[in-house]
Amino acid sequence: MIRKLCFLLLIVQTLSFNVLVLSPAFGASHMNFMAHLADTLTEVGHNVTFLIPVADEARKDQLGVKITKDVVLVEQDEIMSRQSLVVDDHMDSMWTLDTHEPNFEEMFSWFHKLMELSCANFMRNTEVLSLMKTKNFDVAILEPLSVCGLGFFKKLGIEKTILASSCSLYDFLLPDIGEPEEHSYVPSLSSQTGDQMNLYERYKNYKFSKEWKTQMDKLFDQETAIYRKYLGKDIPDWRELLPSASLFFTNSNPYLDFPRPVIQKTIPIGGISVNMKKIKSQKLDSDWDEILNRRDHNMLVSFGSMVKSAQMPIEWKNNILKVIESEPNVTFIWKYETNDTEFAKGIDNVIFSKWVPQTALLNDDRLTAFLTHGGLGSTNELAHCGKPAVMVPIFGDQVRNANMLARHKGSIFVWKNDLADFDILKQAVHSILYDPKYKKNAMHLADILENQPHQPKDLVVKHTEFLAQYGPFPKMDPVGRSLGFIARNFIDIYAAAIITYLTLGYSFYIVLRFLASKFPVRLVRKNKKDL
Ligand SMILES: *[C@@H]1O[C@H](CO)[C@@H](O)[C@H](O)[C@H]1NC(C)=O
Ligand SMILES: *[C@@H]1O[C@H](CO)[C@@H](O)[C@H](O)[C@H]1NC(C)=O
Ligand SMILES: *[C@@H]1O[C@H](CO)[C@@H](O)[C@H](O)[C@H]1NC(C)=O
Repeated sequence: MIRKLCFLLLIVQTLSFNVLVLSPAFGASHMNFMAHLADTLTEVGHNVTFLIPVADEARKDQLGVKITKDVVLVEQDEIMSRQSLVVDDHMDSMWTLDTHEPNFEEMFSWFHKLMELSCANFMRNTEVLSLMKTKNFDVAILEPLSVCGLGFFKKLGIEKTILASSCSLYDFLLPDIGEPEEHSYVPSLSSQTGDQMNLYERYKNYKFSKEWKTQMDKLFDQETAIYRKYLGKDIPDWRELLPSASLFFTNSNPYLDFPRPVIQKTIPIGGISVNMKKIKSQKLDSDWDEILNRRDHNMLVSFGSMVKSAQMPIEWKNNILKVIESEPNVTFIWKYETNDTEFAKGIDNVIFSKWVPQTALLNDDRLTAFLTHGGLGSTNELAHCGKPAVMVPIFGDQVRNANMLARHKGSIFVWKNDLADFDILKQAVHSILYDPKYKKNAMHLADILENQPHQPKDLVVKHTEFLAQYGPFPKMDPVGRSLGFIARNFIDIYAAAIITYLTLGYSFYIVLRFLASKFPVRLVRKNKKDL
């Protein structure tokens, strides 16, 4: 009996699936997220292939995978390399570009071009297609910022697919997968407000969401045309492939993010990229140790890797320096990409460094606070590490992330244009350093995240394995997705009810009038005099 049980256990434990994770090389935050999914599944013994269409040549060495060994690059062919784009060329303008509809075209056009070129290059590579065919994948995962891979998965005959969003909310997908849209209180990806909006802000939130959707639909239609051209006319449209995915992992955490209604396919795995065990085991080297010991307080300043500090408008840099100079008891560590730091000459409480051990610093008690651009990676790290922060979002989803964290009252939101305003920046930096309530609130959030009932890694492993074994789950596709606006919003029922009431009311009126004409009742007015 016991032997039989052991044998069964052995079978269960060695059940290993072949998983394909598709991650075009174009942005570190997207690639890191997909890499974490791959490594999480590799860690528990699945055979994971990490497939990377090289969209941006400059990013193909930043794969992010640590333990997944089977990495396949779809190199740029001659046709693509002749017209290839570099993401970094389009980042400097983000410092001063405001998020509003007239700028959407500019914010999107290079991304479109990049995804289109990359898709065509990917589809032209028949070698990769043949190689992938030999691997008999059970499950395939991609980020729905490009649907090229959905056509590819279909061609390979993979029916068990997973969508994974490295941002907390891809609201442009919601109508396509049948998830409710709540523009009145759920900030969209590029929203400029939190969840409490006035009439104008609700309108803007709606407009941003629709504009994104228009742009993404255009891209997806083009990609569909491309994969059909190379893989065959019979490959379905993206509108059919997207909702046929059985799972939707989102980089959102229910204890951190704005609450919103979801369908059951949506599994929030926010924070999967934060490995607290590893972070807590990190040691700072002696140089950093010495820097942190110089003053009572330390503040890390980093705007991430996409938009460069070195490209910041000079007035903003000078104003940041003025604030730094006004806090002589604090050492500021500024992640800065070049040696060109003449502008800070004579100010001795600032350290410039091209690379900073961000997580090790965040985990160190001597670091008092963080000034960050609010990329989701950094936002999650600082939420898990319980550090107070000043958040200065630059573009994309960063305003949303900053508002999301500020809600927990462990951080302060500062608009990027206010980097030029001494009073605002000084006030924010000084409060975050010295007001203990921020630390207390940040620590409370970190406690919640550390002890949440379902850890993101477990969710990824269990749901993926369950899908591999028992999926796909077309029955989880809500009918509401294909209902028209009228049926879905009960407009026909309201209309029927109104017509019924009106008809009843009118009939009642007719009957009353008829009765009144048949049996006239004389209303006699009694006069005071008659009494
Ligand atoms: C997984 O990969 C290993 C090593 O490449 C191989 O021996 C094994 O058969 C693979 N498992 C499956 C289920 O394909
Ligand atoms: C710096 O610290 C010293 C000693 O604790 C204190 O006297 C001084 O007021 C502080 N300066 C500022 C600008 O906070
Ligand atoms: C910047 O400074 C470092 C160390 O001083 C040096 O190794 C590096 O070559 C310099 N880089 C440039 C672009 O001047």
